[in-house]
Amino acid sequence: MKAISIGLLGLGTVGSGVVQIIESHQDKLMHQVGCSISIKKILVKDTTKERLVAVEKGMLTDNPEDILSNPEIDVVIEVMGGIEETRGYLIEAIKNKKHIVTANKDLMALHGPELLELATDNECDLFYEASVAGGIPILRGLVDGLSSDRITKMMGIVNGTTNFILTKMSKEGRAYDDVLKEAQELGFAEADPTADVGGLDAARKMAILSTLGFSMNIGLNDVEVQGITEISEEDLRYSKKLGYTMKLIGVASRAGDRVDVSVQPALLPEAHPLASVNNEYNAVYVYGEAVGETMFYGPGAGSLPTATAVVSDMVTVIKNMRLGVNGRSAVAPQYPKQLKDATE
Ligand code: NAP
Ligand code: HSE
Repeated sequence: MKAISIGLLGLGTVGSGVVQIIESHQDKLMHQVGCSISIKKILVKDTTKERLVAVEKGMLTDNPEDILSNPEIDVVIEVMGGIEETRGYLIEAIKNKKHIVTANKDLMALHGPELLELATDNECDLFYEASVAGGIPILRGLVDGLSSDRITKMMGIVNGTTNFILTKMSKEGRAYDDVLKEAQELGFAEADPTADVGGLDAARKMAILSTLGFSMNIGLNDVEVQGITEISEEDLRYSKKLGYTMKLIGVASRAGDRVDVSVQPALLPEAHPLASVNNEYNAVYVYGEAVGETMFYGPGAGSLPTATAVVSDMVTVIKNMRLGVNGRSAVAPQYPKQLKDATE
């Protein structure tokens, strides 16, 4: 098979990890897909900025057309974030028959069904494993590993930034603003961290998990959201004294055919397994009627963990290219949406 050319949209925290993994794991990747893989162009805002990884100067561009309508590029990896502009870029790339890998939960929670349908119609792949829980392969777990089961509940920690903040505040007595700043420096937080601390990032992830887990089209507006901005250092001190740990928890449950999805801070007994998930780590329990209880645990944010999920999706895309089976990645919701009434 011919060498595969990648166009990368974004070279920040995740994009730098993608470059590092594609370079340093080239042998393993070639062995898996049977051809070489090279990044041809990288879209950034500022081509003069100092980068976290060394890339040839000519590779950087601030013109999206160098990637979206570049006939040499086979796969577009989107790790730039944003919603409307990015949606436009991916629509153009798909219409130009490029396969897509994205880490963008904001985009997928809002426009996932539209983009997946467009990808299928154009026989393109669209994978988004990194959009939920960073390096943990939970979307594959739901779509492949547990595809035969009927999922009844998913519950866990799906935002690394807030878990990092709550961990450092309660275990080290540090101030909220100080820890948030560190989470931003470490690249865990979104460019605008309001979505992290306000619970919206976790809500987007719960919407994606529920859509896949329950095979229903669950949107962001269907998720009840409360973040951690109202939690004080005093709240955490008292909870600790009483033997509890505060965590931002996402819960998606199904009772009969009705589902209920929410994100809120919760006090967990210290012995609860989710109470010992610390820093940027995420963990999600998935309950299935047949399998019972499973738990997915690992780094939920950060450069290399997230990039692992992105590059693994890229490997799947290239394997599908080799087999000629692209365009089957869309998982169409099977059941009509039925939300649990608040009075039930
Ligand atoms: P980031 O560090 O802020 O990097 C964003 C990159 O995209 C930068 O290189 C930036 O260019 C470029 N960019 C942004 N807007 C652009 C535009 N309009 N035109 C051209 N280039 C643009 O972001 P990140 O943390 O890597 O996150 C990227 C995506 O991955 C987001 O969707 C995020 O939600 C998702 N994600 C992140 C993590 C994580 O741990 N960070 C984990 C899972 C998923 P400049 O460098 O020139 O500014
Ligand atoms: N800002 C996100 C988080 C990045 O903290 O979980 C991973 O999606």
